[in-house]
Amino acid sequence: MPTSAPYAIPIIASVARQVRPRSVLEIGVGFGKYGVLLREYMDIWEMNTLADYDRRHWRTRIEGIEATREYITPLHDFIYDKIHLGEATRIIDTLDRYDLILMADVLEHFDKPTGASFVRKLYDHAERCVLLTYPEPCEPRGNVLDNPYEAHHSAWNRHDFKPFPRVAYKRVEGKAAVVAIVRPPHPLPLLTPCFGARRREGWKGRVAGGMVRVLGPVNASRLATWLRGRPRTLRT
Ligand SMILES: C[S@@+](CC[C@H](N)C(=O)[O-])C[C@H]1O[C@@H](n2cnc3c(N)ncnc32)[C@H](O)[C@@H]1O
Repeated sequence: MPTSAPYAIPIIASVARQVRPRSVLEIGVGFGKYGVLLREYMDIWEMNTLADYDRRHWRTRIEGIEATREYITPLHDFIYDKIHLGEATRIIDTLDRYDLILMADVLEHFDKPTGASFVRKLYDHAERCVLLTYPEPCEPRGNVLDNPYEAHHSAWNRHDFKPFPRVAYKRVEGKAAVVAIVRPPHPLPLLTPCFGARRREGWKGRVAGGMVRVLGPVNASRLATWLRGRPRTLRT
């Protein structure tokens, strides 16, 4: 199906706010919910004037790859800057590098060796972060609606990502995993669903903004989490 369970949605939004990508590549976009989510929290969230709602003013480049042509709709044309149709393991070789590469509930559709080398390739194409979600545990299954791209061919766990130098891993509700693989020297994002939702006014806003400017969003969020004693990610 062109969809996935919603466990990771707020974590993906939070990580995107911490990484602040100027360019994003999403592998296996399906219905396009993560395109909408990223567009909303990268561009709409940053609106300063009503004119910024216009897609011609959006600043984040968001591209996607999708193997199942039937899943692509006018929503994708509006939200994504470009959709590359076809097999992701081949298309990736034709593409450049992106700040953030997101692959949500697609990894389990590859056999293990193909998936492992594809994740390595995504890392090579990422300027900053590869963000993965997958079901854990993952039940084997065949084609869905006759679509071979929906069959499950592999199961993954945190040990599979040991070869990478910087990895954050989190199980969500015992059903799914979120993995952020970060390219040094960029810091690991907090895999927390909570993010500083409001643009803060007054001295709190100036302190939070100053922390983000000086330390960067990730380290500022780590400090805020430590100070508050609960997960806190900051925005400027
Ligand atoms: C379970 S859906 C997830 C959709 C979306 N990422 C989400 O989380 O809502 C998996 C998607 O990946 C696509 N897909 C699977 N294998 C692919 C491949 N090798 N190349 C490109 N797309 C693929 C499927 O067609 C489907 O749209």
